[in-house]
Amino acid sequence: MTEAKTELLRVEGLKKYFPTPYGILHAVDDVSFMVRKGETLGIVGESGCGKSTLGRAILRLQEPTAGRVFFEGYNILGYHKNSMKTLRRDMQIIFQDPFASLNPRMSVSETICEALLIQKLYSPRDKEGQRKRVLELMELVGLAPRLINTYPHELDGGRRQRIGIARVLALNPKLIVCDEPVSALDVSIQAQILNLMQDLQEELGFTYLFITHDLSVVKHLSDDILVMYLGQMVEKAPVEALFERPLHPYTQALLSAIPVPDPDFDAQRITLNGELTSPIEPARGCRFAKRCPRAQEACLGADIPFRELEKNHFVACAMV
Ligand SMILES: Nc1ncnc2c1ncn2[C@@H]1O[C@H](COP(=O)(O)OP(=O)(O)OP(=O)(O)O)[C@@H](O)[C@H]1O
Ligand SMILES: [Mg+2]
Repeated sequence: MTEAKTELLRVEGLKKYFPTPYGILHAVDDVSFMVRKGETLGIVGESGCGKSTLGRAILRLQEPTAGRVFFEGYNILGYHKNSMKTLRRDMQIIFQDPFASLNPRMSVSETICEALLIQKLYSPRDKEGQRKRVLELMELVGLAPRLINTYPHELDGGRRQRIGIARVLALNPKLIVCDEPVSALDVSIQAQILNLMQDLQEELGFTYLFITHDLSVVKHLSDDILVMYLGQMVEKAPVEALFERPLHPYTQALLSAIPVPDPDFDAQRITLNGELTSPIEPARGCRFAKRCPRAQEACLGADIPFRELEKNHFVACAMV
């Protein structure tokens, strides 16, 4: 019998609003979900739908406007900012552009050591211990030992992302928010990094929130997928159910845009027309309605509940 996986992260009614000269921008609007230890939740949606803001609000890199974030059962939004320090080690983030997040003046060794030292995992004098750990981490992420004294500009995008991952691994986190970690890489290198992340998860039991605009990237990695549209959740389901029976017209459009390698397959690509709703003080009702091929009166005027239509399969659509 396999042991039931325990909950690691629970997000309840999370909101992040930004004041702008034109009104309040609803970047993340009432998002709730739960992720178990060792699992991956894929978070998808097009540019500007609030994926990065959601990831950052969960880690309190940007203070949420409302809601609760439970990590290992404790609401971390109730913590004083100063007591977030140990939690910071447990909750890490990997960014899209490793070049931007790496210091160009620091070698691979210095970059990884910095993480070890910030978290006081090694004494600054223990050079031998640090070097041993750096080499171990490099091996884990598939970086050859000879690269230990190289600098970011001497390495290609894939290797730079591997350093970014090694630096995160140095902290031995439990939750890793991956914000488009492969979007800046060539397709062949994307697959290598995704495989690496999957292997590390199996080996070290990480839990991932995997943010991407590209559904095909999270298909093989995710247990569940959450689809966002203009700050709101529109659909959430186990990955197989989402790909086999997408219920929300927006998810259906996203899926239809994934290229299919089989030339005999008659893919019906759904093109979305109509104007984008503004995230600034949006009206009640479905934010996708203006672009939705199935929109009716019922979609406007009142909030659309996020309902469980099949077991673990949730959707916010008045037409299904
Ligand atoms: N600091 C900020 N101040 C004001 N508005 C912001 C701020 N950060 C993000 N936004 C707005 O919040 C919304 C969500 O942005 P976010 O970067 O989270 O989207 P995203 O889904 O990550 O997009 P992308 O795929 O382009 O990375 C956008 O409308 C963005 O302009
Ligand atoms: Mg983003």
